[in-house]
Amino acid sequence: MGLERAASVKPTSLVDPFGRAVSYLRVSVTDRCDFRCVYCMAENMNFLPKQDLLTLEELDRLCSAFVAKGVRKLRLTGGEPLVRRGVMTLIGSLSRHLASGALDELTLTTNGSQLPKYADELAAHGVRRINVSLDTLDADKFRAITRWGELDKVLDGIAAAQAAGLAVKINAVALKGVNEDEIPDLIEWAHGRGMDLTLIEVMPLGDIGDERLAQYLPLSMVRARLAERFTLDDIDYRTGGPARYLRVRETGGRLGLITPLTHNFCESCNRVRVTCTGTLFMCLGQNDAADLRAPLRASEGNGPLLAAIDEAISRKPKGHDFVIDRRHRGPALDRHMSVTGG
Ligand SMILES: C[S@@+](CC[C@H](N)C(=O)[O-])C[C@H]1O[C@@H](n2cnc3c(N)ncnc32)[C@H](O)[C@@H]1O
Ligand code: SF4
Repeated sequence: MGLERAASVKPTSLVDPFGRAVSYLRVSVTDRCDFRCVYCMAENMNFLPKQDLLTLEELDRLCSAFVAKGVRKLRLTGGEPLVRRGVMTLIGSLSRHLASGALDELTLTTNGSQLPKYADELAAHGVRRINVSLDTLDADKFRAITRWGELDKVLDGIAAAQAAGLAVKINAVALKGVNEDEIPDLIEWAHGRGMDLTLIEVMPLGDIGDERLAQYLPLSMVRARLAERFTLDDIDYRTGGPARYLRVRETGGRLGLITPLTHNFCESCNRVRVTCTGTLFMCLGQNDAADLRAPLRASEGNGPLLAAIDEAISRKPKGHDFVIDRRHRGPALDRHMSVTGG
C-alpha cells in the first residue's frame, strides 16, 4: 500500500486489549464440503441443520458491519465456500465495498473443485487473489487425502483461475509419510506457474480419529530437508497472516511456512473468524466465542450487532494453546477446521 493510500485509510475501530487492530475477517459461509480431507473431516460428518445457518442476507449484513468497523480484508472460506448455494450473489453484493474503497480485498480459500465454473465470475466481482488448497500432484494420493476429490478437476480449476487473471496461492498441508517427499516437486510446480506456495502444519482441530499424531510433520524438519536441495533466503514479505516467507533462489518463487505449533504467530494477529452460524471466534486456537446471530436477528438495525462485536473484540485473547504430542492425542479443540474455516 502506498503512503498516500495508507494516510487516507481510516484506522480500524476494532482494537483488542493488546493493541492489535483487527482488520481482517474470515467468514465460513458453510460447514459443508464436496471433499472429506483426512486431516479436516471424518468421512461421516454431521452437518448443521439449515435453519442454524446465517442466510446470505445475514452474512452480507454481518460482513458489512465488520467493514463499517474498519475491517479491510474479507476472506470467505468454509467448508467449501463455493458449494454454498447462492454464494456468487453474496460475493457480488459484497463487492460494493471494494467499489466504494471501504474494503481493500475480497478473497476466498477454496479446494478449487468449483473454479472451472466460477473463476470468471469471481474475477468480474473484483476478486483478485485466491488461495487454493492442494497437497499433492499425484492423483491417487489426492484421492486418498481428500477421499472424494478429483485432482484433474482441481488442476482445471487452477488453470481457469489463472486464465481469468486471478493470482493463485497454493496451500499445502505437510503430512508425514504422505506428501513429505513431494514437497520439492510442489515447489517447482507452483513456482513454475507463477504461484506462491504455503506449507501448513497439521493443527489439532476436531476429532478425526487417531491419525493426528501420525500426520504431524514439523515444518522445521521440512525446511531443514529443503535446504539440502534449495537455497532458502528469509524475506520480510508479509501478507498480514501468520506465514513467514522464504525466497527459493533456484525457482525465484516465494515459500510460506505456517507453523502454529512450532512457532507462535499470535503477537501480530490481526484477524478474527466467524462461523456460518454467526459465532465469532476471536482466536483460532481458543474456545472463547461470541454469538453474533442473536443480535443480528434481534433487530433490523445494526446497533446490537455492532455492540456485540465491540464486546467480543475486548475479549480477544493474547494467544493460542495448541499442543500435539504423545500426552495430548485428542483434539485441542472440539470444533473441526471446516467450522472455523482455517
Ligand atoms: C478448512 S479449509 C476451508 C476452505 C476450502 N475447503 C479449502 O480446503 O481450501 C481451509 C484450509 O484449512 C486446511 N486445514 C483443514 N484442516 C486442517 C488441520 N487440521 N490442520 C491444518 N490445516 C487444516 C486446509 O488444508 C485448507 O487449506
Ligand atoms: S480442507 Fe477444505 S476441502 Fe478439505 S474437507 Fe476441509 S473444508 Fe473440505
